[in-house]
Amino acid sequence: MSVVTDLSSRTAVVTGGGSGLGYAAAEALKSAGARVVITGRREDVLRRASQSLGCDWISCDVADKASVDSLFKQIAESFGMLDILVNAAGLNVRNPALEITESEWDLVNDVNAKGTFLCCQAVARLMKGNNYGKIINIGSMASEIGIINAGAYAASKGAVRQLTMTLAAEWAPLGIRVNAILPGWFKTELTDKLFEDDAWRSRVLARIPLGKAGAPRDVGNLTLFLASELSDYMTGELIRLDGGALSW
Ligand SMILES: NC(=O)c1ccc[n+]([C@@H]2O[C@H](COP(=O)([O-])OP(=O)(O)OC[C@H]3O[C@@H](n4cnc5c(N)ncnc54)[C@H](OP(=O)(O)O)[C@@H]3O)[C@@H](O)[C@H]2O)c1
Repeated sequence: MSVVTDLSSRTAVVTGGGSGLGYAAAEALKSAGARVVITGRREDVLRRASQSLGCDWISCDVADKASVDSLFKQIAESFGMLDILVNAAGLNVRNPALEITESEWDLVNDVNAKGTFLCCQAVARLMKGNNYGKIINIGSMASEIGIINAGAYAASKGAVRQLTMTLAAEWAPLGIRVNAILPGWFKTELTDKLFEDDAWRSRVLARIPLGKAGAPRDVGNLTLFLASELSDYMTGELIRLDGGALSW
């Protein structure tokens, strides 16, 4: 392993780390030697994931400020310092804009947008003490384009994009880098049902120049880069990881 990707002196928290892209990010950080804590709401999922990753877990609902504050208080007490935060917790409710309810809108935006902000704010209060930190937000291609029947999700991921750029500028003097990965299509719990639909799958694959959906380890690899010193001069970047889908 090269010296610059050695994260053995670093501690990382991955929200949504019990499954999918968050799990892959946690796995990559672990492989580089980081001490990793995964979070989410389902304790059985976290327990299983932490056993296979060999990492710690703490349950947390990112949409609930008291739960987020308690998470980072426990982290500060147990580890003293936190160097890396990956905000991968997220969900989607697919519903046409004429049908979507207020509670569906609130749920999606509370988790994806407010939850990302609450975790960024809590972690930056810890990181500023060290004058160094890496925050990696998981946005979406919906941070850049509209997605039919996913208005609440697209609005929430647009917020992640704008928040990433704003926090990057605001917290650069504190040594905190804030970047975002914008994944295209990956098969996870979030998209399982879509991938079962042959017509949808063919339509989507035809839009991806590299001809396939992403693998969660692709997110892990990019996470590793953004978490390491290799990317120390980058902040406020929004990196598409979509097989070229948004390039044409
Ligand atoms: N899969 C894709 O194609 C794709 C594309 C673009 C962007 N993304 C984004 O990637 C991120 C990860 O999604 P995924 O595809 O890996 O799906 P996933 O496997 O469903 O992962 C989402 C994770 O978020 C956690 N979560 C949901 N609500 C939470 C809350 N209120 N508090 C804490 N944790 C919460 C879930 O755990 P609990 O249910 O246990 O809380 C779960 O582990 C999401 O932000 C998603 O929008 C995915």
